[in-house]
Amino acid sequence: MARPPTTYWEYIRVEDLLKLQSGLAETEEGLSNDEVLFITIHQIDELWFKLLLRELISIRDLFAQSPVPEQSLSEGVRGMRRMVGLFHQVAQHFALMETMTTRDYLAFRDKLSPASGFQSAQLREIEILMGLESKLRVPLGGESTYMDALKNHDGSDSPASRRVSRRLEDRPTLAEAVDAWLWRTPIQGSTPQDEGDAEVVRGFLDAYLAQHAAETQRSRRFAEHEGLDDEDRARLDRRYEDERRRAREFLLAEDVEDAEERARRSRIRAALVFIESYRELPLLAWPREVVDAIVAMEQASLIFRQRHARMVERVIGRRPGTGGSSGVDYLDKTALTYRVFEDVWAVRRLQLRRDALPPLEQARFYGLVADEG
Ligand code: HEM
Repeated sequence: MARPPTTYWEYIRVEDLLKLQSGLAETEEGLSNDEVLFITIHQIDELWFKLLLRELISIRDLFAQSPVPEQSLSEGVRGMRRMVGLFHQVAQHFALMETMTTRDYLAFRDKLSPASGFQSAQLREIEILMGLESKLRVPLGGESTYMDALKNHDGSDSPASRRVSRRLEDRPTLAEAVDAWLWRTPIQGSTPQDEGDAEVVRGFLDAYLAQHAAETQRSRRFAEHEGLDDEDRARLDRRYEDERRRAREFLLAEDVEDAEERARRSRIRAALVFIESYRELPLLAWPREVVDAIVAMEQASLIFRQRHARMVERVIGRRPGTGGSSGVDYLDKTALTYRVFEDVWAVRRLQLRRDALPPLEQARFYGLVADEG
């Protein structure tokens, strides 16, 4: 039997959807336009979070493969670009929220207290699946943790806390999966399985650090001018010296105590520098897009956080939030510190001009056909 023709309203469930904006009341009738806007924007944003999570899970699954099939990297990049678009959508809605005055918001604010966006389980899931470490979390201010805030008021589990608990078990995170993929990156044609790989990687890092040191000397020379006094010169010397020290510590992963983990972290960082430095190599075409997409994705998530904080400052000023945090200060702290892909950002500080790069070895391995004359 042929199925009945589909209608728009059945497929999109329009009538069901339009019944959901009344908050705690039976119907929207008694609510102001501001309150319905407030509820609707939150609902739309939760739907964007839902889509963000779906993309994130697919991308994580893709990078959790070993090896990651080369032809699927473009899919990962496309997913991350979609995530960028989704974060931008959420951030854009804050402008709409700003059409509400402080007084208009105060008219219904007490009704929602002590509820807060702080209880958005989906945002927590996104953070966890990306790989945000619990130790980086900004405390809400009281004794309770972000997990406590997700529970019912009597301390029992809620749909939100159950969701987040399940996500905490869901490994690897995207950051872990991407690290494993980066770790396998061929550096100067050598992979971790190859004999002598550690020496090849160390050779590359030493050559890179030597070039980096020469470049900082060069930058120091450019910073020289007549107006400087001895104190200025000493400060500049220290500053560039500091750059050299930081580059070394970072690439050799001296911040990592365990020797095995230090070697692994150093190889991951070397891979990032390698991909960024020799980006035009055909074999690195997709890896380089992946790295760019990761930066764009994390940047978009930070812009979302910052934009939210600016909107909040405009609507309620610097008063405490309904969830009990310090409000804008708390939000600004999260925008500053909730970073997962630290290494991807850190290599930007020590990248070199193309002309200053150490020579590439095994160019053919990366698909670059040398001019054989
Ligand atoms: C007038 C509008 C809004 C105000 C005044 C506001 C205020 C705040 C404040 C002060 C916090 C910090 C926690 C607390 O103490 O409550 C917070 C957290 C949060 N808000 Fe909003 N918010 C508004 C709209 C929105 C919208 C439209 C969304 C969209 C999803 C949203 C999502 C969140 C999320 C996810 C958090 C948790 C952030 C984190 O802990 O990292 N908020 N909000």
